[in-house]
Order: sequence, then structure tokens, then C-alpha cells
Amino acid sequence: MSQPIALAPSILSADFCRLGEDIAAVKDAEWLHVDVMDGRFVPNLTIGVPVVQSIRKHTEMFLDVHLMIEKPVDMAAAFAKAGADQLTVHLESDMPHGIRAALDVMTAHGVKKGVALRPITKAEAILPYLPELDVVVVMTVEPGFGGQKFMEDQLDTIRTVRKYIDQINPACRLEVDGGIATDTIAAAYQAGADTFVAGSAVFGKPDRAAAIAALRGACHGK
Ligand code: DX5
Ligand code: ZN
Repeated sequence: MSQPIALAPSILSADFCRLGEDIAAVKDAEWLHVDVMDGRFVPNLTIGVPVVQSIRKHTEMFLDVHLMIEKPVDMAAAFAKAGADQLTVHLESDMPHGIRAALDVMTAHGVKKGVALRPITKAEAILPYLPELDVVVVMTVEPGFGGQKFMEDQLDTIRTVRKYIDQINPACRLEVDGGIATDTIAAAYQAGADTFVAGSAVFGKPDRAAAIAALRGACHGK
């Protein structure tokens, strides 16, 4: 039994010179997805703590901060203090002790907790963490860049993670990230995802509210 659908526009595809306006244009979405990259865990460098602090002052939206960084335990407290509502760390970024430690920092700071899986990582790897998580993120592209093609072969991972969530922690959300658009969202939804990151499919369109509505409709095959 999945949670109600949530859409999470990714500001990676926004115009960083007009970030406030771009965020205001997606206020109908449930979450705002913030992609933090360090140029090491992934081959791209994006934004850090000061930007999250600024965003927090300008929106009440739920800030879903996706940390694609090595040793996330070192930065988790700073992002929590900056105003993140939820932090997601990559299972592969510092396993296993660093991931355990990062989750403990999140608990101590009262933020929601997520773990993300790169496409190469098997669904089973989530099991040690699943009982305490608020979200599992299944990557449907190789993390690092917006605008990539949805990886259909990740549908199996989504199905398996859905099965584990239903068995072990039904309150946990299953978020998919990468290549979500009106022609891919229904397959991810049917495989068991309930939360959908969308960068280019929202910010790449002139009417962001219409793009969000189109994704919601497409989820149900409309
Ligand atoms: C990729 C990021 C995604 C990215 C998705 O590493 O984690 O959140 O913004 O972009 P689209 O929706 O364009 O694939
Ligand atoms: Zn992301």
C-alpha cells in the first residue's frame, strides 16, 4: 500500500539566477528536491549549505535534500541546520559505518531520513536501514546530471523495494529520481513508486504548474 503521490521538482534544472521565482512557480508540488553534488561521489558540482539556507528563508515547501557527496556524515548536521526537512544519503557513499553515523546525525537533528541506491546497487542493500527510514530513493539514472534517459531496467528494483517497504515499513516513501516525465512516470508508479523527482520535465517547460499537473495526470494514465 503506497503513500499518496508526491511530486518533487528538482531545482537542478531551474535557472539559478531566478531561483526564487522558479521555486514559487512549483509551489503546487508536495516537495522541493535539492541536488547537492560534490564533484567526487558524482562527476558534477552543484550547490551547498548557503543555498539551502537561502531557499529555507523563501519557501515553506518541504525541502528534500539529496546528498550526492562522499562522507555525508561530515555535512549532515550543517544541512539540517540550514533548514532541510529531509536528508537522503547514498548507500554507496560511505558504507557501512558512515551511513549508520549519518542517519544518527539526522535523528539527532530531527530531520527525516532517506537512503538512495545507485542503479548498480541491489534492492536488498536497503534492508539493514529500512525500518528507520522515511524514504528510499531508487535512482533511475546514474546520478550526476539532469535530463538523462529513464533506465527501464530499474523497474525491477522499484518493485523489489516496494515489496520490502510493504513488509517492513509501510509508512516509508519510495521515491524515484531521474528521467521522470509524462512518458515514464506511469511505469514507475505501477512498479510501486509514490514520490517522483522531476527536473527537466518541470523546469524545462514554460508553464511549470501545467507540467506538474501533466505529471500527476500521466501517473494515472491520463
Ligand atoms: C540526478 C539528480 C536528479 C536530477 C533529475 O543526479 O539526482 O534529481 O535533477 O533530473 P531529471 O528529472 O531531468 O532527470
Ligand atoms: Zn536528485
